[in-house]
This record gives sequence, C-alpha cells and structure tokens, in this order.
Amino acid sequence: MPISTSREHIKNTVKEAADIAQVIGEVVELKRAGNRLTGLCPFHSEKTPSFTVHPQGQFFHCFGCGEHGDVFAFVMKYHRMDFPEALKTLAQKYGIEMAERQLTEAEKLQLRRREALYEANEAAALVYQQCLRHPKLGKVARTYLEQRGVPETVVDRFRLGCAPDPEQAGWSYLADQLQARGVSREALVQAGLAIGKEHGGQYDRFRSRVMFPLADMTGRIVAFGGRILGDGKPKYLNSPESPIFEKSRLLFGLHQHREAIRRQRRALVVEGNFDLLLLAVHGIDNVVAPLGTALTREHIRALRGYGDEAVLLFDADAAGLKAAMRSIPYFLAEQVEGRVALLPAGHDPDSYVRAQGPEAIATLVDTARPLAEFAFDALLRAHGSTLAGKNRIIAELKELIKEAINPEQRALMVAHFSEKLGVTPGYFQSGPAAGRRQATPEEVYSSEGLARLPTQERHLVEFLILYPEYLGELLQAGLADAVREPAALRLIDLMARMNEAASHQPEQLLAQVDDPHDRAHIVQILTRGLPYAAGQEQARNMCDALVRWVRSVLHKRAAAELQEEIRRVERLGDKGLLMELIGRKQKMEREKGCF
Ligand code: UTP
Ligand code: MN
Repeated sequence: MPISTSREHIKNTVKEAADIAQVIGEVVELKRAGNRLTGLCPFHSEKTPSFTVHPQGQFFHCFGCGEHGDVFAFVMKYHRMDFPEALKTLAQKYGIEMAERQLTEAEKLQLRRREALYEANEAAALVYQQCLRHPKLGKVARTYLEQRGVPETVVDRFRLGCAPDPEQAGWSYLADQLQARGVSREALVQAGLAIGKEHGGQYDRFRSRVMFPLADMTGRIVAFGGRILGDGKPKYLNSPESPIFEKSRLLFGLHQHREAIRRQRRALVVEGNFDLLLLAVHGIDNVVAPLGTALTREHIRALRGYGDEAVLLFDADAAGLKAAMRSIPYFLAEQVEGRVALLPAGHDPDSYVRAQGPEAIATLVDTARPLAEFAFDALLRAHGSTLAGKNRIIAELKELIKEAINPEQRALMVAHFSEKLGVTPGYFQSGPAAGRRQATPEEVYSSEGLARLPTQERHLVEFLILYPEYLGELLQAGLADAVREPAALRLIDLMARMNEAASHQPEQLLAQVDDPHDRAHIVQILTRGLPYAAGQEQARNMCDALVRWVRSVLHKRAAAELQEEIRRVERLGDKGLLMELIGRKQKMEREKGCF
C-alpha cells in the first residue's frame, strides 16, 4: 500500500475514534450550546467565548481569531507537537495500533528524536526515584526531605527523587544506568541529563540534588528541577531547554493540580518548588509554581483553561513586588483575574503554612488585592502622594504601561491609573513631543457599530445572524427600505451579496466584516444565541413578527409622506388633488389594522 493511502487510513481511524470534545475538554472549559460546545479560545485572549467545538463535524473553530481545524490540528497547536507526534499521541490514547511505516522517513526521524527525549527523561525519573529509596545513596536526600516536612505520600505524588553525591556514586551514575537501558548518548545530552566530555564519555548534570520531575500537561516528563542538598550554588538547577521543554511555558504542579484548580476555579501561584510541596502537604493543592522566572503570558494563558482567577502568593521583598507588577499586562491581556497577597516579612508560603497552618493561607487568599490596585498602593507607599511623589509614581507606571500588550490594554491601564491618581490621562503620554497621543478608553471603544443599534434593529440583526435563511423573505417585505441605521444596513447588504449557501456559514460572514467591534458583536450573538429558546417554530414566528415590523415602518413612513403632501396641496388650493390624497390616506388607515 502506498504510504499516503495507509496514512490517510490510520489518520481517519484515529480521527473517528478520538472524541474531539473530550480531547479539547481536557484543557479548555467547554459548555454546551445547542449542538456545539463553546469556551474561551486557548489561542487568543478573550473574556467571552468565541471558541466552538462541533462534536458532530469533529472540528473546532474560533470566531475571534479564526483558528480552526480537526482534532489533530488542535493537539498540534495546543501541545506544540508536529503531526506524527499528534497522531501517535491520539492513537495511543484511543488504543489504536499504529505502524510506524505509515510515516515518511523524515517524520519518523523527528518523532523518534522527540520520543527519545521523553524516554530519557522518564527513565531518569525512575532512576532518581530509585536512588531516593536507596539505603546509602538516598540517605541524605531522604533526611533533607523529612526535615523540610515532605512526607512519602507527597514524594510519591510528585515523583520526587534524588541525584546522588558523585563522591559516593561516581560522576556518571545516571548516564551509565540510562545507557545500559538503551538511552543514546545523543538523547542524554540533548535532554540535558548529561554533559558530553570533549574526548568521549559524559558526566551527570545533576549531582547531590533533590530532583523534581517537570511534567507537561499530558503528564510526560519534559525536564527536571534539582534543588541542592543543603547549601551550595546554584540552589536550583533546571534542565536546559530542548525540543520538548520551553521553560517560560511550564508551570510546576499544573499537571498534578489541574483538577483541583478546575474545581476551585482558582490557582495559587507561588515562587518556589518547596512552597508548592508544603502547601500540598497541608491540603492546599490548587497551586502552581513557575520555574524561577516571572510569570509569562503563556503561563497565564495555560491557567485560563482551568480557572478564572490566579492569586499570587509572593514574598514581601522587592523581587516579589516587581514580579507581581511585571505580570499585570499579561493578566490584563489574557483577561484572567489577578490578585496578589504578600507574605508577612521573613516568610514564604512554605514557612508560613508550617508556622500558621492552612487557615492562615486561606485568609491571605481571601484578602488578596486586585493586581492593579496592589501595584498602585505599593507605589503610593513608596513615593507618597505629594506632587513630587505623584510624578515619580507616574514615571514608574509609564514603564509598566509600556509593557501593555496592545493599545486597548494600554488605554485600560491609563484610565485606571489616571483615575486613581486624580490626573488626566495626558500625564501618561510618553513625553510632550513623543509622537502619537494615546487613545483614551472612550476612543478605543467608541463605535457606531452593531452593538449600539436601537432595540428593534438590534433584534433584527441578531435574528439574521442566527437565521440567515430568512433574509430573502425579509428583503421581499422591504427590509432594506425599512432599516435606516448604517451598521445594520451594511450587514444586510453584505449578507444579501453573499450567496445563500455562504451566508449560512458564520465563518464566511465574519471573514467579510472588517470592523473588529462588529466582529466581536457577531461572535457574541453566535455563541450566546438568543436570550430565549428558539426552535424552528419560534424562528418562523420571529420572522413573521419582523415582517410585520418592516411593513409598519414602511407604512408609517408612507403615511408621514402622504400627510406632508396633503399639507402642501392644501396650501396650493388644488381641491381635486386634495380629495384624492385624503381618500388615499383613509384607505391607508384602514390597511393599518392588517399588521
Ligand atoms: P527561591 O530561592 O525563593 O526558592 O527560588 P525557595 O523555594 O524558597 O528555595 P528553598 O528550597 O525553599 O530554599 C524560587 C524558585 O526559583 C527557582 C526555583 O524554581 C525556585 O523554586 N530558582 C531559584 C532557580 O531556578 N535557580 C536558583 O538558583 C534559585
Ligand atoms: Mn523557600
């Protein structure tokens, strides 16, 4: 069988077996809306859902950013896999045997390379786990974990292990064992588990450390974090980035804690691996930790699939404050609610939960302040509210505002801070002669678009978007003459020009609408539906009601025009014509009862 045919075959088999709603539902919160599911798009920022999954058609589509495709496309894009890997992952998940010969040579090679990295990491995790249990080699690490208050249950849940002391175990303890298990030198080095020596051979990267395996969202180990036993530098050592590990995307604990986060709709973000462990020890398990970096936009987007809000539990030091400030634009951009609580001086979540118990953490979380407010207050405390203080605050906020993701976010921040400071938004301009003035929030949001139509025309537009099949009938009744609002007219005109088949495809309609506000509004209508249940029968009734509305608008207009004419003729004194017009008007009034 030629490759392409058998490949199509396996692809189709997997596609049929894979439940797209389930696959996407694991990472995006989906709600049923008729025969589709909707949720917040994982590929762009939004507050109202425009991401739809169609289980029957086995495809997804985002009306907001246009991302769409089948289950493979989703897995590839979301988990950053290439096609062979997505195929294989889904095949495994749904228990379908997949012969490798169905891939091209290049694909096989690529797939094997990445798989070799996953395998090396998985094998390493096992070796580190074994090492921790080893009477001699694991003794120091076991004692260390015990002293820090980490019981075996938690050790097991996070698959903690240790890398032994080279004085006891030699410099290639891990490398030797992994190579004995068939892991190639290339994979060892690429995964960052060992460092190649110039003249052959290699030595272990991690030595004398507690080892934290770092899992991606599907639970595969992509890297390690290692904490030194006792003092020494660096305190933490992470695997280098590799084709399967991007540090700025990974959150330690997300895999283990994703269900807890989903249940509580909230994630706590701590700075350190041990903070996370000790909170887990005390039953607080909706926690994640970035790997020693400030929160990135990718982190926040990853959290968005599981909850509505993130509460940062940071140290009260300058670094904690700065980290919180830096994340503000990302929270705004991803539209995740961000709040922050600083630990009492000298504490981190680890020491605090041990000293005060989980209730104290709960109190901290409850009293955490919204990020922007928090940042502002911190600046006010630092600089005071004198004129000079305000100027310094503005200077610092300007730095922050520079990091805003887009003009809308910038405008939001400017509006927020200028109101708090009691100054006009102009103060946040980047200097008197610095190019373009920033848009005020009013400017950003002003639009004569669909969202601002008078009630009746708004209903009409909603109806047409959801039931384009009635457009013809309404046009015949005189729709185009009855409607006066430019935004509604533009849409009607557009829909009338698109051929009928196309106007039934919301994607195609959206592709034709230029105004972003109108697009957003259409998306909202499509995903929200009508505020009341509407079956085919109700749709029919609504159409009839709209036809009546069109007729009455046209009738009123005609009546007004006639009245105007009568007045004119009266002044001219043409009795014959006047009688005729009055007759016409009476006839018109009789007809009025018909609608
Ligand atoms: P901290 O130094 O605050 O860690 O760094 P911690 O968790 O309080 O440390 P101990 O174990 O309790 O003493 C916070 C996080 O920053 C990363 C690690 O992920 C750590 O958990 N980090 C820290 C590094 O990557 N490298 C370092 O050298 C230090
Ligand atoms: Mn600590």
